[in-house]
Amino acid sequence: MKGNEKIAFTAEAVAFMRARENSDKFSKYFVSPKIEHKFKLVSRFIPAYLDKISHKRVVLSNDIDRFIKTYEPEQIIELACGYSTRGLVFTQRDPKLVYVETDFSSVISRKRKILREIETSEGINLSKNHHLVAVDAINSDLYDSLHGLINKKKRTLIVAETLTSYLNSAEHDFLVGNIEHLLERVEEGAYLSHEGMKMLPGLFGKLLLFYRNKVAKTRSYRHFDDAQGIKDYFLNRGFVGVKTSESQVTSNIIYLAKRK
Ligand SMILES: C[S@@+](CC[C@H](N)C(=O)[O-])C[C@H]1O[C@@H](n2cnc3c(N)ncnc32)[C@H](O)[C@@H]1O
Repeated sequence: MKGNEKIAFTAEAVAFMRARENSDKFSKYFVSPKIEHKFKLVSRFIPAYLDKISHKRVVLSNDIDRFIKTYEPEQIIELACGYSTRGLVFTQRDPKLVYVETDFSSVISRKRKILREIETSEGINLSKNHHLVAVDAINSDLYDSLHGLINKKKRTLIVAETLTSYLNSAEHDFLVGNIEHLLERVEEGAYLSHEGMKMLPGLFGKLLLFYRNKVAKTRSYRHFDDAQGIKDYFLNRGFVGVKTSESQVTSNIIYLAKRK
């Protein structure tokens, strides 16, 4: 199985939305002039719509942040991190937190370069516990790729934000198997992700998704119908507890599945 690297372009679109919403002071560094120009052009025609979807996207990240905080992880592995600034923000706040960001190699090398620029521009030092590793989540063995960085004794959380909707059912099952294989090797661990319940609304939503799917040669997949479906799936796979929360604002169900 091999991931579709064309999906990587969506990471910059998300960074643009975070920068537009001023969700943090770092996202702007990940938006290239080319993407900024393209989106500004689009936003001339649909400014209110772009505001609305940018806002929802930031709310989703904030909801995920809240779930992360309740679990109190000592070590986070973020799959498909894209240009999310969570790893940077969290490790600047808590330098003891081990944070391993993973994505395709093209994303990881650009992110490393931009993080170095941020260090200079913002006068900060990256935490020595903040790592970036190229991992195709449905190809590479997660544990083999990361075991040198992971402390088996630390409470571990694997996070995937807007990854699973790009995976078909076989790829999704493989991903969860990969996650289980890693979580079996730590003393305490859980997996946090979410399921979108609705497509982008309206004609513009359809057009944006059509554009994304054409460029990235992808589509949107659903894996669960409701919170009960999420619980059944993970409990049947040997997880020991599943917490879910439904957001009306983002039409997502966020779930945290504890392995042990
Ligand atoms: C919409 S972006 C979201 C990025 C980030 N999670 C965020 O919230 O800003 C989707 C990300 O999934 C990554 N991705 C898709 N398939 C992947 C795979 N098989 N392995 C690793 N990353 C993948 C893309 O490269 C891209 O960075």
